[in-house]
Amino acid sequence: MNFRVFFVCSFFVFIILNHGFSMAQMVPAVYVFGDSLVDVGNNNYLPLSIAKANHRHYGVDFVNQKPTGRFSNGKNAADFIGEKLGLATSPPYLSLISKGNKNENNVSFMNGVSFASAGAGIFDGTDQRYRQSLPLGKQVEYYSNVYEDLTREMGESALQKHLSKSIFVVVIGSNDLIGYFESSEVRKKNTPQEYVDSMLFSLKLQLQRLYANGGRKFEIAGVGVVGCCPAFRLKNQTECVVETNYWSVQYNKGLQSMLKEWQAENEGIIYSYFDTYAAMSDLIQNPTVHGFTDVKSACCGLGELNARAPCLPVSKLCPTRQNHVFWDQYHPTEATSQIFVDRIFSGPSIYTSPINMRQLVAPEVS
Ligand SMILES: *[C@@H]1O[C@H](CO)[C@@H](O)[C@H](O)[C@H]1NC(C)=O
Ligand SMILES: *[C@@H]1O[C@H](CO)[C@@H](O)[C@H](O)[C@H]1NC(C)=O
Repeated sequence: MNFRVFFVCSFFVFIILNHGFSMAQMVPAVYVFGDSLVDVGNNNYLPLSIAKANHRHYGVDFVNQKPTGRFSNGKNAADFIGEKLGLATSPPYLSLISKGNKNENNVSFMNGVSFASAGAGIFDGTDQRYRQSLPLGKQVEYYSNVYEDLTREMGESALQKHLSKSIFVVVIGSNDLIGYFESSEVRKKNTPQEYVDSMLFSLKLQLQRLYANGGRKFEIAGVGVVGCCPAFRLKNQTECVVETNYWSVQYNKGLQSMLKEWQAENEGIIYSYFDTYAAMSDLIQNPTVHGFTDVKSACCGLGELNARAPCLPVSKLCPTRQNHVFWDQYHPTEATSQIFVDRIFSGPSIYTSPINMRQLVAPEVS
């Protein structure tokens, strides 16, 4: 594409977006799948789960300083994605259904819903570390129930139209990788390459189930710089763990190939891949550009790097969250999530491929 055409197209998008068509009209709903990076409270409804963020200091910068189950000082990426699209954050699925997984309140899932659950992995086993979460397979199964409810509510053809304009956000994989590097048993059974390949194989099956149930537009994130999370830095005298980062990159490369292949095999899929690793590396390497002064330690925690313990009511809290990349042992601050979502939405192409979320929303004009 030459520069001039690109400019004209971008300008056209600008005109469209500012005259009559809001993002919210173009995207009727967001369906969210994934882990703690996008959980907005599902785990609060899992009584046995120890992966919970419903206590202080979580939410210290949220509305009314309320802990909500988000693994953040404030909003997380799911909230910012909603904001970009002009939609309310998709509510946690488990908050909408009553016991027995029946939708006895007759709530509509038409405006989007989130199945994301802290501790969740692509593999069912990953969440065992946290005693209870909704692994990806379970999330997709719940989505199938939602699909049936929506079919009854809207009818098949209106539903297909609704879903084809909706965005399916998938943020998963970090817990599987963390699980691998923290379990000598899993390591004995698989080489890292076998493990990563098997993650991708399983993920593709779940994506295909979403496609079979109407999903067409996908926003899919790779894993971040896992070996630079405060919890991993503790293993290497506060430096990043090289092997974990290497396999994070290998997984992301494999993910990009898998997505291309998956798209070629199925009619009508459009996706935007977000390179969380590249976006996070940039913040770690060029912190001051974004107003960060601390890229190593957790804001909420205890001990070395504030990462010897999770964020608990007794933990130490850093005074300024805005200048920390990491909120706790594993999770980004609200400030980091906001930068991620700016990049998810607008690119540039070192972070999003083959298109960004803005183009995912309006492919016909961009
Ligand atoms: C929900 O819908 C079912 C079937 O249409 C109906 O029997 C039930 O009374 C409704 N419940 C509520 C709380 O509206
Ligand atoms: C620890 O960090 C140093 C400096 O970045 C690196 O050279 C080394 O390979 C790391 N060790 C491990 C085990 O990751």
